[in-house]
Amino acid sequence: MLKIAIINGPNLNLLGIREKEIYGSSSFEDYFKTIEQKFPTIDLTYYQSNIEGELINKLHEIGFTYDAIILNAGAYTHTSIAIADAVAGIKTPVVEVHISNVFSREDYRHVSYLGKHCKGSISGFGLNGYELAIQSVLI
Ligand code: DQA
Repeated sequence: MLKIAIINGPNLNLLGIREKEIYGSSSFEDYFKTIEQKFPTIDLTYYQSNIEGELINKLHEIGFTYDAIILNAGAYTHTSIAIADAVAGIKTPVVEVHISNVFSREDYRHVSYLGKHCKGSISGFGLNGYELAIQSVLI
C-alpha cells in the first residue's frame, strides 16, 4: 500500500476558523476524512505542528520510508532554510502545497525556500490542492 503523509505547518490547525475568505470554512480534519474516503487504497496520514523543529523531526522520521510527503509549511515556506534543508536531505519526494495562490498575495509570499527541493508545487486551488498533490503521486 502506498504511504503518503500530509504535513501542515503553523496556523493550519486554525483552518475553518482563520481568515475564511482566504482559506475556506472547512477544518483540515473534516477535509482529511473526505480524502481518506476518496483514496481508500492509499495509506494516508496527517500531521500538523506550529513548531519548526517538530516539522523537521517529522520529515526526518518519515522521509526515508514513505512514498510521498505533501507539505504545506505555511509561513515557514518563506522563511525556513532549516525546513528547506530537511526537504533536501530526505529521500521521500515532497510535493509543496499552498491553499491560497501565494503569487497573488504579498511579495514576501512569492519566495519559497522549499520549492527548489520539491518534486512540484501546487498553489491557489484551496483544499483541493492536497487532492491534486495525491493525484500527482499516482500518475
Ligand atoms: C499558506 C500560504 C502562506 O503564505 C501562509 O503563511 C500560510 C498558508 C497557504 O496554504 O496558502 O500559513 O501556506
